[in-house]
Amino acid sequence: MDWGMKNRFSKIIRPADGRCLMLAVDHGYFLGPTERLEDPRKTVAPLLPYADSLMLTRGVLRNCVPAERDVPIVLRVSGGTSIVGEDLSKEAITTSIEEAIRLNASCLALSIFVGSKYEHQTLASLGKLVDEGEKFGIPVLAVTAVGKEMGRDARYLGLACRVAAELGAHIVKTYYCENFEQVVESCPVPLVVAGGKKLPEMDALKLAHDSVTHGAAGVDMGRNIWQSDYPVPMIKAVKAIVHDNADVKEAYSIFTREKAGKKEPQKVKAVARPADFD
Ligand code: R5P
Repeated sequence: MDWGMKNRFSKIIRPADGRCLMLAVDHGYFLGPTERLEDPRKTVAPLLPYADSLMLTRGVLRNCVPAERDVPIVLRVSGGTSIVGEDLSKEAITTSIEEAIRLNASCLALSIFVGSKYEHQTLASLGKLVDEGEKFGIPVLAVTAVGKEMGRDARYLGLACRVAAELGAHIVKTYYCENFEQVVESCPVPLVVAGGKKLPEMDALKLAHDSVTHGAAGVDMGRNIWQSDYPVPMIKAVKAIVHDNADVKEAYSIFTREKAGKKEPQKVKAVARPADFD
């Protein structure tokens, strides 16, 4: 890795412990105004001090995150589909490398859809993006997106992660599964685990804990943080697992202690929303 690549990579996966807490707020790129991410400014602001990096699109970055904030950016550069469109796997690169550089991105993120109708298109885009990233010293995070019809087991996820790494991804985002160690062992680059749909806090903390204890470098977590009634206590608890090796019990007591200090849960807006994913 050259200096620039190494420097940017170290902003995502912290060299002190090889771990990462990436806060994902990119959901609107195909889901529109996802519940509790209707106004990303409000969702993101209180969480920023606790996230190692922020995963989002250029639109939300430009409009909802103050440029003065010193938070490393994982810029989602793929998209072009929506939850009501023809096929979610039909993604292309939607943001240029010049734009990513202008926005001072520390990492580029793109989804691949292994086993889907548009597998080839998304894998070819990954190869192209890695070439661009290498040219300018910007690492690439491959997001292994899983279609409804695909099994989320170690065999499938291992295949998708390995393909991503073979095409040059520097980090791969995937899902936790049974025998997750097999996925980790067969992928030569660091893996981060997505949170997925909102779970009870204890279960989400267990997911984060299982992920890092079975070899993930950390989490790329969104809904399980900001859809919690207590997002700041939740991110603090996840952070304790990722960076302080807290166990689930310790993390949950951080959550309950922090929660006790808050007056009211965050309010849910009653607006029509598209269906969730995962
Ligand atoms: C999908 O929109 C993105 O890749 C998300 O960033 C990813 O799924 C992580 O978010 P969550 O923890 O909500 O699944």
